[in-house]
Amino acid sequence: MELIRIPRIMLETSKQHLSKGKTIGLVPTMGALHEGHLSLIKRAKSENDIVAVSIFVNPIQFGQNEDLDKYPRDTEGDMEKLKSEGVDILFMPEVKTIYPARFSTYITVKDLSDRLCGAFRPGHFSGVATVVCKLFNIVMPTRAYFGQKDFQQTAVIKRTAEDLNMNVEIVVCPTMRESDGLAMSSRNAYLSHGERKAASVIYKALKTSSELIKAGNVNTADIQKHMHDMLKAEPLISETQYAGVYDADALDEINEFKKQNLIAIAVKIGSTRLIDNMLVEF
Ligand code: PAF
Repeated sequence: MELIRIPRIMLETSKQHLSKGKTIGLVPTMGALHEGHLSLIKRAKSENDIVAVSIFVNPIQFGQNEDLDKYPRDTEGDMEKLKSEGVDILFMPEVKTIYPARFSTYITVKDLSDRLCGAFRPGHFSGVATVVCKLFNIVMPTRAYFGQKDFQQTAVIKRTAEDLNMNVEIVVCPTMRESDGLAMSSRNAYLSHGERKAASVIYKALKTSSELIKAGNVNTADIQKHMHDMLKAEPLISETQYAGVYDADALDEINEFKKQNLIAIAVKIGSTRLIDNMLVEF
């Protein structure tokens, strides 16, 4: 595996591969890799000649009171995992090379960024869209792979790529789950034993909601109430930021089911913020 830290060298390396007619699959990550990331890498390997993984804890997507400083970091463990997955290139730039002193260009994706998580994390999706755009310009991937767990992130990135005519295919891969259904996330590492057990209520609320929808005879308000009731019944949930039924394209709350519906939840367990979602066809 080639380790590249300098954006200019990454760009030259990609240009060489592309000039030989090779396809490049990029898996952008912030490290602390888990099975969810590895599933993206496996998919990228099956569809591309070269697989590049980026590890970059992007400071501009964290709010002032968020977890940038304590975000889990495990460079050695990550490198072992990437080598055993047969990754070709690890791109691990330093903050100063991605955001040099005079950096001043930010991407704003209107509307999509303000809903759901965006309402609780102002500026977050601008930070995500900006860094992903930079990674695309540096790595020049044929395809880029993201997990459905961050559904709103995938919507924002797809919109950015389309609006800015980026020459990359965005591939969204299924959420990987622990045995009790909890969506895999680097932030699960923050949970105490009790909180980790409590966190499975998120999946249970989504799963039972999806079953109720599929069985018919419910409306969106019933589903919202069902989710809130389940979450309220778990004492370790300190805050429910949102739980409801949303349009899968526009991400706004809906009062009537459509063909494809997004059910999504964001809660805090202690100080750890967890999100999850499911798409339900009607
Ligand atoms: O999902 C993540 O890990 C990050 O938001 C991403 C896409 C790597 C951008 O920093």
